[in-house]
Formats: sequence, C-alpha cells, structure tokens
Amino acid sequence: MLLIIAVFMIAGSASAFLNQTAVEVSESAVVYTPSSDPADAKFPEGAKIYKQKCFVCHQLSGEGVPGAFPPLKNADYLLADKKRAVEQVLNGSNEAMVVNGVTYTIPMPFQVDTHKEAVDVINYVLNAWGNDGGTITVEEVKDIKIVR
Ligand code: HEC
Repeated sequence: MLLIIAVFMIAGSASAFLNQTAVEVSESAVVYTPSSDPADAKFPEGAKIYKQKCFVCHQLSGEGVPGAFPPLKNADYLLADKKRAVEQVLNGSNEAMVVNGVTYTIPMPFQVDTHKEAVDVINYVLNAWGNDGGTITVEEVKDIKIVR
C-alpha cells in the first residue's frame, strides 16, 4: 500500500488518489445497526449523522463513557437547552461541563457544517433512547454563528 501511494505521489496524482481512498474508507466504516428505537424512523437524517459521527464517543446507546464522553441519554445538560446543543455540534466546545453531576473536560471538535444537519442530529438525540426532549427548528437557530 505504501508503495502504491509512493508511485502515485511520483506520478503527481497523489491528492486525487488519497481523497478517493479517504471517502471509501469513511463510507465502509459507517456502522448501521438495525434499531427498534422509534427515533430512528422519525428522524432518519439525524439518526444517520449520529451513526456516522457521534456514536464513536457518545456510544450507540447514548450513554457515553463515564468521565470521558458525556451521556446524551437522559442528560440534564442536553435536555436543559436545545439551542446550546445545536451550537455544540456546529462549533464544538473546549470547556469543562457538568453532565448528570460528572465533570467532563475533554474538548469536542465541531461535527457538522450546516444549521440543517445540526438541527437534524439534535432532534434525533433529543428523542432517542427514551429521551423526551422535544424538537427545534432551523429558524430558531439560524443566528448561531459558525466559528472555524
Ligand atoms: C471525539 C468525541 C466526540 C464526538 C465525535 C462527539 N462528541 Fe459530543 N461531546 C464530546 C465531549 C468530550 C463532550 C464534552 C465537551 C466539553 O467538556 O467541552 C461532548 C459534549 C456533547 C454535548 C453536551 C453535553 C451533554 O452530554 O449533553 C452534546 C449535546 C453533544 N456532545 C452532542 C454530540 C453530537 C450530537 C455529536 C455528533 C454530531 C457529538 N456530540 C460528537 C465528545 C464527542
């Protein structure tokens, strides 16, 4: 594989080749699990984003990893402020936060690039795993500035 990449680099088409490889790898890494959670059918776009990006840290169960990645299932922090949650996935965060009484300090990188994707995935997590967090609209969050 290294040899193949080296050959392409010499041929000067490395970036096209590497880009293509990256896309293939990320697509084959997506884990789609059959789910009986009604939120998967109700918010399919958000469920898809969750299972591509968020589950790595917050887990498919939404329970996170205690002390490292906070829970989203039954999380007081998430359920307290829908708009703040949308901002969380648009811009990430780098500050200590207390979720269900436990302090989390690892930063979270931004996850999505559009207000629509952010709203889709937050509406999913607000209603997955038995959460009863309601929904939020793109209209309500359009003033959130995307910071990169
Ligand atoms: C690389 C690991 C990682 C990924 C991927 C990730 N998060 Fe996070 N998330 C964290 C960490 C760590 C925190 C705590 C951040 C802090 O303390 O600044 C956090 C905090 C949160 C919070 C606020 C705290 C809470 O539990 O209510 C929400 C909401 C959230 N993440 C949602 C998401 C969503 C939705 C996605 C996918 C679009 C996602 N995260 C992807 C690691 C991650």
